[in-house]
Amino acid sequence: MALGKYAEKINQGIIDPEERYKKIMIEEIPVMLSDRGEIVCIPKNQEVFAAALLGQSGYGKSLLLNRIMMSLKNQWRVNISLLNDVSEESYHWSKPMENKKFNEFNFRWINQLPRASPIVYVYPNTNNLQLNKQRLIGKDYIKIVLPFAEILPNIGFYLSGVLEDFDLGKSGNYIRDVEDELKECQSSAEVREVLEEGLPGKDGKAFASMRAKIFNAFNNLFKEGILDITNPECHQYLRVFEKGKMDFMSNPFTCIMKAGLIPSFVTSNLATKKYKSEIFAHYVREIFKNNIKDFPNQKTFLGFDELRTVCEKDDEPASKAIGDVAARGRINEVGLVYATQFYNKIPNSVKGAKLNYGFIFRHNNQKIINEIANDFDLEKVYKEKIHKLKIFQCLAVASDKFVCYADGERYERQGPIVGQIFFPFSNHMSVSNREVSKEEDDDEDE
Ligand SMILES: Nc1ncnc2c1ncn2[C@@H]1O[C@H](COP(=O)(O)OP(=O)(O)O)[C@@H](O)[C@H]1O
Ligand SMILES: [Mg+2]
Repeated sequence: MALGKYAEKINQGIIDPEERYKKIMIEEIPVMLSDRGEIVCIPKNQEVFAAALLGQSGYGKSLLLNRIMMSLKNQWRVNISLLNDVSEESYHWSKPMENKKFNEFNFRWINQLPRASPIVYVYPNTNNLQLNKQRLIGKDYIKIVLPFAEILPNIGFYLSGVLEDFDLGKSGNYIRDVEDELKECQSSAEVREVLEEGLPGKDGKAFASMRAKIFNAFNNLFKEGILDITNPECHQYLRVFEKGKMDFMSNPFTCIMKAGLIPSFVTSNLATKKYKSEIFAHYVREIFKNNIKDFPNQKTFLGFDELRTVCEKDDEPASKAIGDVAARGRINEVGLVYATQFYNKIPNSVKGAKLNYGFIFRHNNQKIINEIANDFDLEKVYKEKIHKLKIFQCLAVASDKFVCYADGERYERQGPIVGQIFFPFSNHMSVSNREVSKEEDDDEDE
């Protein structure tokens, strides 16, 4: 053996990089570099997956959510919707990653360059919505409202959501009597007319207070700004004239995804609204039930950051809607990725469904760690490890397997695997210039 070859054998660093490294195209989504130096990836399977990102604040959940969602779109070309940006973090995501260290790490290990993501910011309209136009310069955004058809069957609920201490009670029957006529209305004036005519006590005093109560409640509903009444079945802004007839495109999220873009639902103004859960539930259901029709042979993934601000109790409509995606998403080809620091507060309807992947960041709350360890079948050493994870480190678990790459080899590994996450290629906000998020307001971890 020539000296050169011998030297190469004992010191790999001497080999010419051209020879030492070979280029491998990875179709899986790289999520982290394991402590053993492996590139750990989410495999590309036939079916959609459900994943949870868990851990206390500031250790990397949203970074990994950003990475996974954008890789789904960019690598696998599936549709994605970001459905809960309650802290207004995704404004940054439409630019390429600016942090040099993050970019260097990604470049070194997975040869990935920073990249902007084509996001459309979607605002649920309410009376307290204030757009920060400064932040939206150069960005695409729309305000959206619900169709009357969503509101009508739940009218008592929505009225009580816009008026404090309002209870429609038995008067709901009177409204139900005129529901068919209400369904035909195309303006708030027409609704008032139907109510004028249809509610009992038109000429006398007998029902005066009930009538006043209902008129007042409907006025509030219109003032709230959450409703599009111009066509009860759909929104005016979704009408299209196609093949010689007027039709409508299902919902704003689907429209944006069909255009190859990424909707990000900016929900900070919903935080205090009583009807918040219904609004989430409506859009999740719309995307979920129509996915096969809207996107034949395509997959769609929904991403929820700070899940607790969307659903907390089992009886909330959003819990049911997201629970359906968790449990039956495979049938409709809708996947789910959510992040939360309160694993113990996820409603059972969501948590009960089997997860394919869990990414667990540092936690100090023993109760939550115990619950995670129990649900993910973690041994004691890993429970102790969760306490000690550093920023950007996580414990990855899979119900099936991860795909790993090391030294040019590709193989499957079960987990748990400890490692450091790869960073998003789209930009992200650092905590130092972040407002405290809603979910973190009442952080009880420490
Ligand atoms: N662009 C960035 N440059 C530097 N640090 C960042 C950047 N984005 C996020 N970070 C830091 O990464 C950590 C994890 O952030 P994040 O994933 O948003 O936390 P969380 O787990 O609360 O969602 C935070 O400490 C944050 O300050
Ligand atoms: Mg976060």
